[in-house]
Amino acid sequence: MSAAVASVGLPRDRHGRPLHDLRISVIETCNYRCPYCMPEGLTPEETALGRARRLDFDEIETAVRAFARLGVSKLRLTGGEPLLRKGLPDLIARLARVPGIDDLALTTNGSLLAGQARALREAGLHRITLSLDALDPAVFKAMSGGRGDLADVLAGLDAAEAAGFRSIKINCVVQRGVNEDQALALVEHFRGTPHVPRFIEYMDVGTCNGWRRENVLPSAELRDLIAARWPLRALTPTYRGEVASRYGYEDGAGEIGFVSSVSEPFCGDCHRARLSADGQLFTCLFATRGQPLRARIAEGEDALAAHLATLWQARGDRYSEERASASPARRKIEMFYIGG
Ligand code: GTP
Ligand code: 5AD
Ligand code: SF4
Ligand code: SF4
Repeated sequence: MSAAVASVGLPRDRHGRPLHDLRISVIETCNYRCPYCMPEGLTPEETALGRARRLDFDEIETAVRAFARLGVSKLRLTGGEPLLRKGLPDLIARLARVPGIDDLALTTNGSLLAGQARALREAGLHRITLSLDALDPAVFKAMSGGRGDLADVLAGLDAAEAAGFRSIKINCVVQRGVNEDQALALVEHFRGTPHVPRFIEYMDVGTCNGWRRENVLPSAELRDLIAARWPLRALTPTYRGEVASRYGYEDGAGEIGFVSSVSEPFCGDCHRARLSADGQLFTCLFATRGQPLRARIAEGEDALAAHLATLWQARGDRYSEERASASPARRKIEMFYIGG
C-alpha cells in the first residue's frame, strides 16, 4: 500500500460504513427508454456525453486501482446500457487483473448480449445481471419504451448460459398496476433453474420518471402473493449489507430476492460508491451532485486514493431512510447516468 493511503488507512464514512463496492457507469445512454428510468422525450438531450467526455479505459483502470486500495473488492459495470460501449471486453480484461478485485459483474438489458456473451466471459467477467420486467412480449415492449424485443433478451440469456455464466440474477422493477402479474410469470418461468429473479421496488431515482408512491408495490405484498402459490422461506444474506433479501422455495426449486429500498431502506449498511461515465463520484444513488475525479485520476493512483479517502470520510448519505422528509423539489441525478 502506498504511503498516501497508508496514512489514511481504510476509510469509514460519517456513519462508520466502509467502502466495498464500486459501480461504474461506462456509458450514459441506452437503446431502451424504460419509462421508470429514461422516459422517451422527457430526458434532457444533453445527457449523451459523446466519446470525448467519457473516461477512457486507462482512466477507469487507474480509478479502480485506487478504489481497490481503499477496500473495494466488488465491481459492477453499468450504464445506461454498458454493452453499447465499444471494446468493453478489453476493459473487463484489464479490471479483472486489478489486485484486490474478486468480484466483477455487469448489469445489462440483454438486448446485445447474444452477440457478446462469449467475449465477456473470455475477458474474465464473473457474473451477469439481466434486467427483465416482463415475459409478455407486448408488456415487455411497452416497458422498454417501445424499443425492446423480448426474443433478443431471451436469446441473450441463452447465450450467457452457453458461455458459462451460471446463476444469473434477473432484475425486475415492479410497478403496481403495470407489471405485478409479470412478476408472477417470471417466478414461474425461472423456478427450477439456477437463475435468481429479484423484484425491485420502483424507486424515486432521478426526476424525469414522474415517480408516485401509489405505483410502488411493497415487497412484502408481492412476497405474500408469490408465497401463496409457491411457499417460501427466508434465507440468510450472502454478505453483510446485501441489497436483496433472499428467499428460497420450500420445495427446493430455487431462489428469489426482493430489493425494498422504499419500504425497508438499507442505508445503514450501504458501502457502495458510483462512478459516472464522465468521471464523477457519487456516494448515493439519490445524490444531487457528484465530485469530479478526472483531474485527480490524471495525477495517478496515489493522489487519487488519498483524495477518495477524504471524500468517503465526508460521506453522510442515507437518502432512502430520509425519503419521507426529503424535499420533493430536490434535484437528483438520473439512473441511466449514474448506473443502477
Ligand atoms: P449482487 O452483488 O449480485 O448482490 O448485486 P447487487 O446487490 O449489487 O444488486 P444489483 O446491482 O443488481 O442491484 C439491484 C437493484 O437494486 C439496482 O438496479 C437498484 O435498483 C437497486 N440498488 C442497488 N444498490 C442500491 C443502493 O445502494 N441504494 C438503493 N436505494 N438501491 C439500490
Ligand atoms: N426504480 C428501481 N430500479 C430502477 N432501475 C432503473 N430505474 C429504476 C427505478 N426507477 C434499475 C433496474 C434496472 C437497472 C438497470 O436499474 O434494476 O434493472
Ligand atoms: Fe436502459 Fe436499463 Fe434504464 Fe431501461 S433501466 S432505460 S434498459 S438503463
Ligand atoms: Fe446507499 Fe443512498 Fe441507496 Fe441509501 S439511498 S442505500 S445511502 S445509495
